[in-house]
Amino acid sequence: MICLGIESTAHTFGIGIISYNTKNSKHRPETTILANCKASFTSKKAGMIPSQVADHHVDVCDKIITQAMQKAKLRLKDIDMISYSASPGIGHTLRIGAMVARSLALRLKKLKLNVPVIPVNHCIAHLEIGRLLTKAKDPILLYVSGANTQIISYEAGKYRIIGETLDIGIGNFLDTLARELNLGFPGGPKIQELAKKGKRFIELPYSIKGMDMNFGGLLTYIKQLIKKPQFFDEYTIEDLCFSVQETIFALMTEVAERALAHCDKNELLLGGGVACNKRLQEMCTIMCKGRGAQCFIPDNQYLIDNGAMIAWLGVLEYSAGNYISLKNNVVKNAKKITIAPYLRTDDIEIRYR
Ligand code: ATP
Ligand code: FE2
Repeated sequence: MICLGIESTAHTFGIGIISYNTKNSKHRPETTILANCKASFTSKKAGMIPSQVADHHVDVCDKIITQAMQKAKLRLKDIDMISYSASPGIGHTLRIGAMVARSLALRLKKLKLNVPVIPVNHCIAHLEIGRLLTKAKDPILLYVSGANTQIISYEAGKYRIIGETLDIGIGNFLDTLARELNLGFPGGPKIQELAKKGKRFIELPYSIKGMDMNFGGLLTYIKQLIKKPQFFDEYTIEDLCFSVQETIFALMTEVAERALAHCDKNELLLGGGVACNKRLQEMCTIMCKGRGAQCFIPDNQYLIDNGAMIAWLGVLEYSAGNYISLKNNVVKNAKKITIAPYLRTDDIEIRYR
């Protein structure tokens, strides 16, 4: 069976194609990622303006689909199912993905092929691709991306959010800070590069509330700090980036460690674009080593938004009977081909685990 996954929750339009074979084992089918292609919106000056990002996805969608089909050496009629990220994300861009899913399914219907369409949750996709690609079985997920910062643990049929940001996501924090420093979008990678050359640590607010954290206050604090004329006489932009990373990643690592202890688990899995950060990876690895746990970090291309994770979750949801068939407008356990920008990870019942 071949599943084509469409990612469009925010800056990235991605197409992933996965082939899987259930003959060998029902629970861990033999799976191959045949393609994982994407184009991401970037901007030198501004951040993500929803209508501009949506225009970007409309512009690139056909090119990325063709690229992925060529990479996988497949034709459209070889596709057996189509999944798309239905939640959570920016309404403007989610709609493009849902529309692409519907258009492809209708095109296949014309060829007399009734292909199921599977709406999936983007956050759970980050987690499941990590479980597929690493040996992690029942990990705590440290999910750190642009819009989301969550610590997630599976318990009794749901992925429970046991800690999260109370305001902005850690990636949005980094991107906004980078914009203030005229570094462009996305800011995370640029801050990482500058941080390597930082020498002096600047004490910054460290805000944890139980298992939750927030970044808005820190952002305001830094904005005021860099407005002071004497600040850059004493410190460099590299020092600031270094201090920011040390502070926010220590905070993330602390919450992750507490989650491992509270849930009595011994595997930590990283997911989301900010998890590409080498310093965060280093801190988590050291923390896990110290307590005899394992730290799993998938390749960067599967940490940032990607179509492969959407395709894989499509396979899992289909196996649990959650899909839409356009043939007689049959909807099995899933909603219609629609989007849910605000749906939370812990609202979703997991039927395949
Ligand atoms: P989600 O919908 O899951 O919130 P997202 O749309 O934010 O996802 P991701 O690709 O998961 O997309 O994450 C993008 C974020 O990752 C951006 O904020 C970007 O600055 C940040 N990022 C990417 N690479 C790095 C890095 N090396 N260090 C820190 N942050 C990074
Ligand atoms: Fe993401």
